[in-house]
Amino acid sequence: MTKLEALKALEGEMEADKSLPLSMTSYLVFGEGSPEADVMFIGEAPGFHEDRLRRPFVGTAGKLLDKLILEVGWKREGVYITNIVKRRPPENRDPLPEEIEAYKPYLTRQIEIINPKAIVPLGRYGMNYFLPEAKISRDQGKVFWVEGRKIIPMFHPAAALRAGAVLETLRQSFRKLPELLKVEEPPKETPTALGDVSKNDSSKETVKAQTLF
Ligand code: URA
Repeated sequence: MTKLEALKALEGEMEADKSLPLSMTSYLVFGEGSPEADVMFIGEAPGFHEDRLRRPFVGTAGKLLDKLILEVGWKREGVYITNIVKRRPPENRDPLPEEIEAYKPYLTRQIEIINPKAIVPLGRYGMNYFLPEAKISRDQGKVFWVEGRKIIPMFHPAAALRAGAVLETLRQSFRKLPELLKVEEPPKETPTALGDVSKNDSSKETVKAQTLF
């Protein structure tokens, strides 16, 4: 089975799974892009326009995302774009923890099929899905490793549309993306010299993730 076929089959399974929350009130927005993508952008949940067109990031935040992707010399069709919750919450409210949990097995399989070099969660919800301890303003633009996969959280484009400073930071982080993709995973156990105090006081998030930048 090709990656495209595997994704189609997964989408079909999700359509058929009526136990998934929000299935009665909104369409499935599975995700789109290249099944061979090196980078997977993962937002929070579809909004009004995404629900209507059944495509992720097609509203104003999506237009900004497209622009940022183009600015680094990539194409929207060359990356993969999806959300942690794949149906629109009513009135665009934040996704509930049980909604995130319910969609999790499907997102896990979607990531496994695409097997990207890096995941770029957009915004706090996407970020905390992978990095529960992370803080968006502190950790956006940094490289983390979670179970051997590179995670680079970034501000949500919608937040960037509300504040110029956030847009500037998001743009700067985006510009670093091509370089950050080349970063290799550090060795699991970095030998620490006895008495090397610089190594033994790393912050709590290194339990689950290792930051490099
Ligand atoms: N915001 C998101 O988090 N996802 C979308 O698909 C659109 C807006």
